[in-house]
Amino acid sequence: MSVAPMMDWTDRHCRYLHRLMTRNALLYTEMVTSPALVRGGALHLLDFHPDEHPVALQLGGSDPAELAQAARLGAEAGYDEINLNVGCPSDRVQSGTFGAVLMKQPGLVADCVAAMQAVVQVPVTVKCRIGVDDQDAQEVLPEFIARVASTGCDRFIIHARKAWLQGLSPKENRDIPPLDYDLVMQMKGLFPALHLSVNGGVTTLEQAAGFLEAGLDGVMIGRAAYHQPWDVLAGADARIFGADTATRDPVDIALAMIPYIDAHLSSGGRLHQITRHMMGLFAGRPGGRLWRRVLSEGASQKGAGPALIHAALARMQEAQPA
Ligand SMILES: Cc1cc2nc3c(=O)[nH]c(=O)nc-3n(C[C@H](O)[C@H](O)[C@H](O)COP(=O)(O)O)c2cc1C
Repeated sequence: MSVAPMMDWTDRHCRYLHRLMTRNALLYTEMVTSPALVRGGALHLLDFHPDEHPVALQLGGSDPAELAQAARLGAEAGYDEINLNVGCPSDRVQSGTFGAVLMKQPGLVADCVAAMQAVVQVPVTVKCRIGVDDQDAQEVLPEFIARVASTGCDRFIIHARKAWLQGLSPKENRDIPPLDYDLVMQMKGLFPALHLSVNGGVTTLEQAAGFLEAGLDGVMIGRAAYHQPWDVLAGADARIFGADTATRDPVDIALAMIPYIDAHLSSGGRLHQITRHMMGLFAGRPGGRLWRRVLSEGASQKGAGPALIHAALARMQEAQPA
């Protein structure tokens, strides 16, 4: 099981929080573009905390040599996997010819993957859609996988819906094109030796476990893991990985963030940069709204620090019926 790459969401602070809830789930970075790393020298985008392992770097790009350089930088930084984004439909990304538009160019994706594999020891994986626009997904998806797998790439994460490159916003492209889980299952039948993960619309551990029991090798969860991290992640080690870990409480997780917050503030960071990812910690639980409110009202104020976490927990406790 993994937590999906999500721009502006799965930054290092978010991943540190998620890691407190699951020891085993693989965590993905936001997409980092190869031009930003290689031409822009934005190496700070690769920073992560050692506790985040296992952690995968997602790259965006379509130039094999540049992606190879970016993959090398990622491997040197210590990432456990380098993933290529072949699923993102945003305009900005299309203009740079990367993301979902590459579903139309499996040969180029294969060249990119081969170039990346040639320079790193860690697995190079691909996150793709089932197709784009008017492509026949039944036809193009197996062709795409076969072509890219011919490089030796044996791990794919398939977002089980098409991307429509014209007329839908990136957000709509995560909801409107219908999910086709059957097609992903068929790919497992066609390519039994590949490690195939399904992504898209998975909201519970039960649903994730169902896919694994049905024969898939992995499940990637995005929005649900972000918005209800406790519900989706805290039970994952036991339910999905069969690990014998003591389940903590969301209060423990909030408190465990405090040393991390202290370190971030000491190095000049702002509280809000971390607490914005903690809003959903008590989602669906008594006091969850109050928690959100106290954090969102207080975190951007001058001098805000860990006292706000204690205050929010105290306010929630006071609000509980005796
Ligand atoms: C805010 C946001 C940002 C995203 N950014 C990326 C990204 O950088 N790279 C990527 O491959 N997918 C990105 N996605 C798509 C997710 O990785 C995932 O494929 C999609 O949300 C479907 O999974 P879900 O239904 O479990 O959320 C993003 C999704 C969201 C909600």
